[in-house]
Amino acid sequence: MSLKEDLTQIKDQGLAEIAATDDLKALNDIRVSLLGKKGPITTALRGIRDLSPEERPQVGSYANTIRDELTTEIDARKQAIEAKELAQKLANETIDVTLPGNQVRQGQPHVIQQIIDEVVDLFIRMGYQVLVGPEVEEDKYNFEMMNLPKDHPARDMQDTFYLTDDILMRTQTSPMQARTLEKHNFEDGGLKMISPGIVYRRDTDDPTHSHQFHQIEGLVVDKNITMSDLKGTLATMIHEIFGTKFNYRLRPSYFPFTEPSVEVDVTCFNCMGKGCDVCKHTGWIEVLGAGMVHPNVLKMAGVDSDQFGGFAFGIGPDRFAMLKYGVSDIRDFYLDDVRFLNQFDRRG
Ligand code: PHE
Repeated sequence: MSLKEDLTQIKDQGLAEIAATDDLKALNDIRVSLLGKKGPITTALRGIRDLSPEERPQVGSYANTIRDELTTEIDARKQAIEAKELAQKLANETIDVTLPGNQVRQGQPHVIQQIIDEVVDLFIRMGYQVLVGPEVEEDKYNFEMMNLPKDHPARDMQDTFYLTDDILMRTQTSPMQARTLEKHNFEDGGLKMISPGIVYRRDTDDPTHSHQFHQIEGLVVDKNITMSDLKGTLATMIHEIFGTKFNYRLRPSYFPFTEPSVEVDVTCFNCMGKGCDVCKHTGWIEVLGAGMVHPNVLKMAGVDSDQFGGFAFGIGPDRFAMLKYGVSDIRDFYLDDVRFLNQFDRRG
C-alpha cells in the first residue's frame, strides 16, 4: 500500500471515529491519538524521506490537507457536542414556576410578650416613657425605698431568692419607681413612665402562680393627680386590652408604697362572673395592684411630697393573657410547647 493510501485510510478512519463520538473527553483522546507526536500522521510523514523527490511535496501537502481536515472536523464536532450538552443542561435545569413553594414556618412573639407589647404600645400613645430595670436588684430599691424597711411584715408576702443580704432577684417591678423618682428632675415637669419586666418570688407554683412571672409597672407623678386619674387610666387600659364585654372593679387593698391602695379585678373569663373554680367562686380575677403613691416613697427619693403626688400600678401580663385567651393554668405559658403557643399566632 502506498503512503498516500495509508494516509487516506487514516483520514477515513479518523473521520469515522470523530463522527461516532459524543463525548468531549473521548474527542480529545482522538485528537491526541490522531494528530499527536506519536500519531499515525506523524509516523506516516516520517516515511516521506523514502519517496522520490517528485513525490515528496505531493504526499507532504496531502498529509497537511488531511491534518487540516481532521482538525476542522474535530473542532466542528467539539462545538456540536458542547451545544448539545448546553441544551441538555438547560432542559434539565428548567424551573417550573407554577409549582407550589415550600412553606417556611415563621415564629411569633410569645403570647405574654404580645400582651406586653399591646400594653406598652397603649401607654406610649398616652405619653408614657418606657424604662427597663435590673432583675438582680438591691434590697434598697426593691424594699426599703418602697417603704418596706428591713423588719416590715409585708416583706413576707414577697419572699424571694437572695443572692447576698442586700442583693436579690426583684420581687416586683416597683423598684423602678424609686429608681426613676430619684433621677427625675421635677423642675422639667411631671413624670409618666411604665416599666415592663420579669420578677421572681418564692411562691409555690399553682394554676395562677409561678415563681417567675411578668409585671408592668406604671408611675405618674405630677401636681394635682387624683385617684380618678388612676381609675380612668386603668379603665382605658382594661377596655383596650379586653374589649368592653369584661367588667372591672376596684377593691380596697394594702401595699406599703401606696395609700390608699386598690386591687383591680376583671370578670372571670371562665364563668363570665357566675363563679367557678378558676376564680375561686368570686366571679372575678385579680389582674393588678395600684394606688396613690405613698408620701414616704416620694420623700425617700428626694421629691417634695407637699407639691407632688401621683399614682402607681403594677400589671400582671401573665394574668392578662390567661383572661384574654381563656387559659386556666399559668404554667402552660412556660412549658414552651409550640402546639400550645401556636394557637396565639395573631398575624392571621
Ligand atoms: N408591686 C405590687 C405587687 O407586686 C403591685 C403594685 C404596683 C401595687 C404599684 C401598687 C402600685 O404586688
